[in-house]
Order: sequence, then C-alpha cells, then structure tokens
Amino acid sequence: MPKELQIPDRETALLLDELKKTLELDGDVVEFGCYEGDTSVLLADVLRNSPNKWLYLYDSFEGLPAKTAEDNSADGWRFKAGELKASADTVRHKFRKYALPEPVITKAWFEDLQDSDLPERISFALLDGDFYQSIKTSLKLVANRVVPGGVIAVHDYRNAALPGSAKAVSEFLAENSESYSLRIIASIAILTKNL
Ligand SMILES: C[S@@+](CC[C@H](N)C(=O)[O-])C[C@H]1O[C@@H](n2cnc3c(N)ncnc32)[C@H](O)[C@@H]1O
Repeated sequence: MPKELQIPDRETALLLDELKKTLELDGDVVEFGCYEGDTSVLLADVLRNSPNKWLYLYDSFEGLPAKTAEDNSADGWRFKAGELKASADTVRHKFRKYALPEPVITKAWFEDLQDSDLPERISFALLDGDFYQSIKTSLKLVANRVVPGGVIAVHDYRNAALPGSAKAVSEFLAENSESYSLRIIASIAILTKNL
C-alpha cells in the first residue's frame, strides 16, 4: 500500500475503522476528492469482502477550485486553485497495481454532478474537497442518500488552514440536527445518520 498519504496514517486508520463499522449496512461507498487515489485504494481494500458494495470516486482531476472568503486563513498562501491536480489514469493504475476491483470514477466539478452520477444508497462517504464550497456541495449531494446508521466523514474539520470545512459542516448540522449527529476524531467530523 502507498506510503505518502494526503490523510495522515493515524487518521486513515481511524477512517478505515469507521468504514468497517458500516459494512453490514445497505449502500455503497463514495469519496469526494480522491486526488491520486491513495486513500481510495485503502477504502477498496476494506471492501474486498463486501462484493455488493461499489466504490464511487469523484474529482475534478483539475486540482482545487478557487477559494471563497470562507476559506481565508493565516495559511492563505497554501492551497491555491489548480493545486493537487491528478489524473484518473493514475488512480486506475493504482487499483490495478493492488489487484483491486476498478471503482466508478467520475471526473467532474462537484457542483456539476447530477443525481444520476451518485449511487442511490450510501453507507459511507468520505468528503475531502478541502474548501467550503466543495464540502458544502458534497454534503448536499450525499445527505439524503445516506442510509440510517451510515456515516459521512468530513476531513479537515479541525484544520486551521482549511476553515471552510468546519464552516460547511456547522451549517449542515444547523439544518440537519434531527437526522445527523456529530463526533470528532482527530481532524475528522463523523456525521452519523440517526436510526
Ligand atoms: C486533499 S485532495 C484529496 C485527497 C484524497 N482524499 C486522499 O486521501 O488522498 C482534494 C481533492 O479534491 C478535489 N476537489 C476539491 N474541490 C473540488 C470540487 N469542487 N470539485 C471537484 N473536485 C474537487 C481536488 O481536485 C483534489 O484532488
């Protein structure tokens, strides 16, 4: 498995634990912002014994979009538009290298995705689009598809360099407090759909 991950090892282990807890649920697994697929292959590895679950990956493969005011931080010089550009072929190659079933890869800006691009039911969603608008859009896309007991994991919730992630999650919870509850593990917000 790859060594240099966008999500640090300890957080990845915690994420995979959360994924494992959802394996008995109906629904598929999605990752919004897969970049080079380093975390995606680890998600797929956990899914090896769950042949009914498909992995869906979404990315612009053009890198990050432009920031909005909600993303401003003291680290403003980092995370520029166009950074973190990867290619879907790099991701496919990684899946082949580890002999994993090929995921469903959609190259698009999250904001341009249609309902039909997403699976009907989602048991686990990893949202890792870094910026306010990207997290906000991906939350909106997945929220109604998550099955009871299912999880939305939002990366960078506790990352002072990327404040848009926490802002998008707070706004989401303000509107969905009846249907989702929040836990925080490391820098990740774990939103569990209530039973
Ligand atoms: C931090 S990287 C993801 C890292 C990946 N999850 C991992 O663990 O290796 C963020 C990715 O989100 C993508 N992204 C951010 N906002 C997006 C948007 N609005 N639409 C499509 N892709 C977006 C970027 O292209 C980039 O590849």
